[in-house]
Amino acid sequence: MSHTKVSNQILKSIQNTVNNNKINILNNVYNKTDLSNVTNNIIKHVGRNLHLQKNHPINNIREIIEKSIDSTSSKPFIKYNDLTPVVSIKQNFDDLGFPKNHPGRSKSDTYYINDTYLLRTHTSAHEVECFQKMQTLQNNGYLISADVYRRDEIDKSHYPVFYQMEGSKTWARDNSKKFFNKIQTEIDNMKKQLSTFQNLSIEDVDYTHEPESVNCKQSHMTDEETSILISHMKRTLELVVANLFMQRYKNYASTSSKSNKKDEEVIPEIKMRWIEAYFPWTQPSFEIEVFFNGEWLEICGCGLVRELAYKNAGFPKETQMGWAFGIGLDRMAMLLYDIPDIRLLWSTDERFLKQFRDKEGIFKFKPFSTHAVMSRDVSFWLNTPVHLNDFMELVREELGDMVESCSLVDEFVNPKTGRKSQCFRINYQHLDRNLTNEDVNELHKGVEKKLIEQFGAEIRN
Ligand code: DAH
Repeated sequence: MSHTKVSNQILKSIQNTVNNNKINILNNVYNKTDLSNVTNNIIKHVGRNLHLQKNHPINNIREIIEKSIDSTSSKPFIKYNDLTPVVSIKQNFDDLGFPKNHPGRSKSDTYYINDTYLLRTHTSAHEVECFQKMQTLQNNGYLISADVYRRDEIDKSHYPVFYQMEGSKTWARDNSKKFFNKIQTEIDNMKKQLSTFQNLSIEDVDYTHEPESVNCKQSHMTDEETSILISHMKRTLELVVANLFMQRYKNYASTSSKSNKKDEEVIPEIKMRWIEAYFPWTQPSFEIEVFFNGEWLEICGCGLVRELAYKNAGFPKETQMGWAFGIGLDRMAMLLYDIPDIRLLWSTDERFLKQFRDKEGIFKFKPFSTHAVMSRDVSFWLNTPVHLNDFMELVREELGDMVESCSLVDEFVNPKTGRKSQCFRINYQHLDRNLTNEDVNELHKGVEKKLIEQFGAEIRN
């Protein structure tokens, strides 16, 4: 990745702006409304496209997954890697069957542009439009990789912008034996690939056979259809996970063992398990977890696409069936490369970038000297309650990447006045340079000033 390429991307992204009544994103102008809550700090990330930067860890993970999935079928999946992050509320929520009161829709969780548009909170927002395109493209599988945006807490693993990959495969329903045999042949091929990993252990869970349970089969589908699709989906995702973790274990083993140990001796078991899950646009739904560093980690959600999504894409009633999944690319990159702080993924620091340049695959990231973390507490009285994410957003807007983490350390309500007092601890750290005590004092004053301006807070000393 050349320097110029990174700086061009950054230049492009700083043309996105929010002012008093307009929002400009990727050269489109939107009128603000009361719902608008995107900030300059957030939209400057639009257009960075880390998932397409050669040798960037997020790009590498994307490529490994794309390759694994393409190996499951004779036809490569269509790749959508540059869909705009500005989508309608309808695309992000309604078309996928999100109930009106779903917490994901709230202003404290989502970045709204105005009453019609938002910054997508997940790549599933494109599912219906991709199903529509499928009808003319003569290809039943696609993969989408893209940046997604969520208001959230601040710590080493949460950043308001992150990357996801979405994938789906659909079949026109057909009850002939030949049709089922074709799907079964793909499953058998995947099983063959999986059997080449000697150290795989997979604990499975069936769908619920109890009718009307949230995880039962959809009523228009048969048991045979449901079982074969679940098997196809699970084997596909097991291959993805096995390939990712195998690359990590192999590479780490070969770099760490100057000893005479053979690979089999040092490569640990890859342990996965399936659990039931719930997503509004899939039924039944599942999640795959991996046992890693002593704990079970959720890796990827998935399920059989609900009829509602095919209907919204304009397919004739009950003619399609298929599966869909979504996986977080930053999270996988951090786990597999041992990247300790999510902010590093956005770094333009040579000490970060040079470790990935001209290198392929998965390897261990070597942390470079990080600068000291300095903590400051801020305590204040509030007359009206403030959502935790609104506080976090104020801190992000004021401090950008100079905040390492932030947490609520104390709160209480004065029984006489009913007023609430909160105390937050902000951990200041710049990834590229040292902050002095004076820098931090100045920054902290800026946060206090914004708390007074935006929330009418009364700072306690
Ligand atoms: N969109 C989900 C998320 O952001 C991930 C996901 C789960 C995508 C299940 C899917 C799916 O397509 O079927 O957490």
